[in-house]
Amino acid sequence: MASVKLSAPASQWVGGRKPLDRGASIRPAFRRVSVPVVRAGSYTDELVQTTKSIASPGRGILAIDESNATCGKRLASIGLDNTEANRQAYRQLLLTTRGLGDYISGAILFEETLYQSTTDGKKFVDCLCEEKIVPGIKVDKGLVPLPGSNNESWCQGLDGLASRCAEYYKQGARFAKWRTVVSIPCGPSALAVKEAAWGLARYAAIAQDNGLVPIVEPEILLDGDHPIERTLEVAENVWAEVFYYLAENNVVFEGILLKPSMVTPGAEHKEKASPETIAKFTLKLLNRRVPPAVPGIMFLSGGQSEMEATLNLNAMNQGTNPWHVSFSYARALQNTVLKTWQGRPENVEAAQKALLVRAKANSLAQLGRYSAEGESEEAKKGMFQKGYTY
Ligand code: 13P
Repeated sequence: MASVKLSAPASQWVGGRKPLDRGASIRPAFRRVSVPVVRAGSYTDELVQTTKSIASPGRGILAIDESNATCGKRLASIGLDNTEANRQAYRQLLLTTRGLGDYISGAILFEETLYQSTTDGKKFVDCLCEEKIVPGIKVDKGLVPLPGSNNESWCQGLDGLASRCAEYYKQGARFAKWRTVVSIPCGPSALAVKEAAWGLARYAAIAQDNGLVPIVEPEILLDGDHPIERTLEVAENVWAEVFYYLAENNVVFEGILLKPSMVTPGAEHKEKASPETIAKFTLKLLNRRVPPAVPGIMFLSGGQSEMEATLNLNAMNQGTNPWHVSFSYARALQNTVLKTWQGRPENVEAAQKALLVRAKANSLAQLGRYSAEGESEEAKKGMFQKGYTY
């Protein structure tokens, strides 16, 4: 097991102390205080290694962690029933694609898939490891209404999380995902932002303590008719709170990955923004809020078309960034695959080719070398749905 290496510098925030005394006005510049040393957990070195292999050049994450209900929506879009056999067939198609590991470094699974095998009896986890793809697991328990807020929600799942993470680790998972959302048209209220940030931080600390790299995902929904400047303002507020609480919970920044939304205008705003504008605003956000110690930024696609999501990522990789800037797409990697498959065994090979096409396009975008020439009409179709729930 990994040795304990990282200990907190004197300036690091420690358990039980307030990281920033926001109300205090005068403080001695150099005050010697005796603070308990915060020790990294026993998995620290391994967490750092895991983030490095996920955030490796030209690779990103395939997100297929839809709950059974959400997977049912994907299957319904091609006329299939939401049965375990159909979910298995779909995940088998995705996870047995030869060569996927050239472009994909991690796959986020739903619990059912983590424990499932192919129809020939090979564990999905083993299919991934053969391609050098790190298995990940969605650990949140979904969104419920947040009492006292402006019709907003909070994310459940902290109860029993430590033991679930320990079990997932035994099954081969090495990273985790927790997705909470913030809605701009609903405010967002200070309460909702604080709850989202605190929940993410508690989850991240628990996941790290059990050997899983936490993906920190406060999704700022595309819903709304606001301009891009408003999205930037909200995103800055949200990420400030998230890092405040991550630090307060002694989360090791070198052992996390972020999954932000890109900074775009609201989906119902009168004007669309170009990839260059989206990249400019998004990088401004990241530079202002994300310490360089964080190894990787793995964007969600949030209802953008496959091509838009790839173009925007490509635009963000035209210069040098302090972090690996990549993708963790669900809809923007699956849309054409599903349409090609249609649930027919004779289409599996073509659907796997379609997955490789999208994965390769995003791999090139991670390297800043993507061109949209020759993209299919399907790849250009937007997937935004108002009030979309996972
Ligand atoms: P989308 O790329 O469809 O927004 O999915 C995000 C997500 O969190 C899935 O893990």
